[in-house]
Amino acid sequence: MTQAYQIEHHNYDVVVIGAGGAGLRATLGLAEAGLRTACITKVFPTRSHTVAAQGGVSAALGNMGEDDWRWHMYDTVKGSDWLGDQDAIEYMTREAIPAIIELEHYGMPFSRTSDGKIYQRPFGGMTTRFGEGIAQRTCAAADRTGHAMLHTLYQQSLKAHAEFFIEYFAIDLMMEDGACRGVVAWNLDDGTIHRFQSHMTILATGGYGRAYFSCTGAHTQTGDGNAMVLRAGLPLQDMEFVQFHPTGIYGAGCLITEGVRGEGGYLTNSEGERFMERYAPSAKDLASRDVVSRAMSMEIREGRGHGPSEDHIHLHIEHLDPELVHERLPGISDTARIFAGVDVTKEPMPVLPTVHYNMGGVPARYTGEAVSKSNGAVETVPGLMAIGEAACVSVHGANRLGSNSLLDLVVFGRAAAKHCIEIMTPGANHKPLPDDADELALTRLDRFRHADGDLPTATLREEMQRNMQDHCAVFRTGEVLDDGVQKMAASLGKRAHLKVEDRSLIWNSDLVETLELDNLLVQAAVTIEGAANRTESRGGHAREDYPERDDETWMKHTLAWCDEDGRVRFDYRPVTLQPLTNEVQSFPPKARIY
Ligand code: FUM
Repeated sequence: MTQAYQIEHHNYDVVVIGAGGAGLRATLGLAEAGLRTACITKVFPTRSHTVAAQGGVSAALGNMGEDDWRWHMYDTVKGSDWLGDQDAIEYMTREAIPAIIELEHYGMPFSRTSDGKIYQRPFGGMTTRFGEGIAQRTCAAADRTGHAMLHTLYQQSLKAHAEFFIEYFAIDLMMEDGACRGVVAWNLDDGTIHRFQSHMTILATGGYGRAYFSCTGAHTQTGDGNAMVLRAGLPLQDMEFVQFHPTGIYGAGCLITEGVRGEGGYLTNSEGERFMERYAPSAKDLASRDVVSRAMSMEIREGRGHGPSEDHIHLHIEHLDPELVHERLPGISDTARIFAGVDVTKEPMPVLPTVHYNMGGVPARYTGEAVSKSNGAVETVPGLMAIGEAACVSVHGANRLGSNSLLDLVVFGRAAAKHCIEIMTPGANHKPLPDDADELALTRLDRFRHADGDLPTATLREEMQRNMQDHCAVFRTGEVLDDGVQKMAASLGKRAHLKVEDRSLIWNSDLVETLELDNLLVQAAVTIEGAANRTESRGGHAREDYPERDDETWMKHTLAWCDEDGRVRFDYRPVTLQPLTNEVQSFPPKARIY
């Protein structure tokens, strides 16, 4: 197989796959420390999906009212519906403060208060004094925070002489005796294949929102790293937990930031009622996302949706000062005009809960090290790390709080770099790779490149997306999920009938989309089977046939493996209830307080 392709070989200390917020923050830290670092990315760095993040990044800076990282920690544990690991959550909320100040010093153009501090807005689930008041904790650059972050990190990475391999598609990991030895990637521009050998490979490949028909994510959000992990025989964790953002634009799916409700926006049903007051009397429209998405779905289901099909909800900011909207929410004003034909200063936006975030991913420690479980023991995977949405650390547990995602990217990108710096020596020798190191990647590439069936990639993709949308949605039942599992197995089988028209290796988007679809299908399978398997309701996983949270049986993380034929198997690992230091108490599970 190797002879059929033109292959170039590279040696690096560290290879980072993905150039979103997590990948760039890791790359920057590594390059600054003198570790020879390659960052491989299938899109130009500043087009990574982080660019679409709007509302902000959380940190208990206390710039606009009292705050404390311990309150942030409590909110995150509670928001996770007690599935988050408390050592990792302590690390994230504590490190948030220096990590954001560093970003400020790197030049990130945050919005400012009148006295020049970083501007912070309220976001769902963020409170003061363990739930007593509303915290202003989300640091914002208007409603384009991800855009500002990506540009800052990319520019600083260039300054630190990081090496970028842009528009390279990572195909598969190179594994030897359970350790990761690097990755095989395809240069989309000239058709060459590259073996990147490294002492550490960091997956920063993002989520897989595109397994669904309607999502706020970019079309490139196909979770390529997660799928590489499954093909390497390693597990993914908690994949059944998928976050629906309450306010995707009806029809188009584009995000309307939660910052809108943070700035005073509110939701109404077709009777003009501010229904969140009924579902979450204290937090109201700023309840956590799982709560708001379920409430909106209930309103629609009970016939109080807007529009001729009574199938969406209205989000209002017409009452806000147009100056404020112009200054703090310029991006969503454009989005609403372009995708919904709405002038936000005069009329409400039509919105609907839309897939937004994957709480599940590659199981990892707060150092970034990937872990697996074999023979009953949880162990690190030598040479492999995962950060950002690709990882499940697990700081978000069953439900992520808004603005904890950009935080996760920055804190764990930084942590992974710090850990590499601690354990690695720059320029250390590489031992030779096994002869068949690239076999898995090249065989797979070749199989799809010459796929000669009768099924277009787009047809199978839509079949998978509609199945996920219909069978693994905000509300779930065993019967509907089981039906979806059967359909997903059929879709996986249809990979053998795919047809790829273009056989070239230069900008072959037909082949890229097919490899991405293959990646999505295995993740969709572990997601829907994981949802059928978990017989309780927790966070983003709402089972109508098991409406209660069941801490006795289910306060544990799911680990899911998927073999080549799409057969899924499960095991579990405990939730860490022990914080990292003795500076904070552990937060024991509480009854659901909605
Ligand atoms: O609503 C938003 O701006 C999204 C933020 C997030 O998902 O963290």
